[in-house]
Amino acid sequence: MSTRKLVIAIDGPAGAGKSTIASRLASSLGYVNLESGAMYRALALKAILSGVDAASEPALLELAAHTTIELDPTPAGNRVLLDGLDVSQRIRERDVTDAASRLSTHPQVRVWMVERQRAMGAGGGVIMEGRDIGTVVFPNAEVKIFLDADPNIRANRRVTQAHAEDDPARAEKLRHDMQERDQRDATRSASPLKAADDAVHIDSSRLTIEEVIAASEALVAERLTKLS
Ligand code: DC
Repeated sequence: MSTRKLVIAIDGPAGAGKSTIASRLASSLGYVNLESGAMYRALALKAILSGVDAASEPALLELAAHTTIELDPTPAGNRVLLDGLDVSQRIRERDVTDAASRLSTHPQVRVWMVERQRAMGAGGGVIMEGRDIGTVVFPNAEVKIFLDADPNIRANRRVTQAHAEDDPARAEKLRHDMQERDQRDATRSASPLKAADDAVHIDSSRLTIEEVIAASEALVAERLTKLS
């Protein structure tokens, strides 16, 4: 089997299991796992802190010109540095989640992100997860996985992750937010969430994490064999 370091693209909607699979696969392959959504979240946080409206593309681009975002892969996930400050926790909060989804609709903001994402993955040995990795960021990625799951199952996972099972109002809000975000991510005109034509679809609705990892590892092994 080839020892070549591949680029692996994992795309799919929120709650499909991308982060879990990407980080497990990265540690078993000795690859770096880069979470592209964290970059949209970091710029969204900067916009909130700077009073910049996520609807204004020119203001966001001006802000981006004075922003550095770094992803530091650790076994526990990406440590996210915004202008050198660790914002890994803060970017998961609801206001940032919402602003990131809005900000990601702007074509020029996406160009700014894609340039940086390509530079990060240039050397290979990388798993990048997001919405447009196999279609736009790395259209030549050697392995492309489109990870999806039934919307109800994805929403249930989010509710469990947020420990909101016993709080019906909060659970309902989480479900509603996810539906709204799904809709925006899939219908925006700039790089909407879409499987690349050559992506392998995995539906995680009825699979365990171990089963999804096994299926993904098999795809990587098959690709490495073909390349050797
Ligand atoms: O994966 P996530 O939930 O952390 O992503 C946050 C937002 O960023 C999400 O609403 C969609 C957007 N995003 C994107 O448009 N393209 C990517 N490659 C990654 C995320």
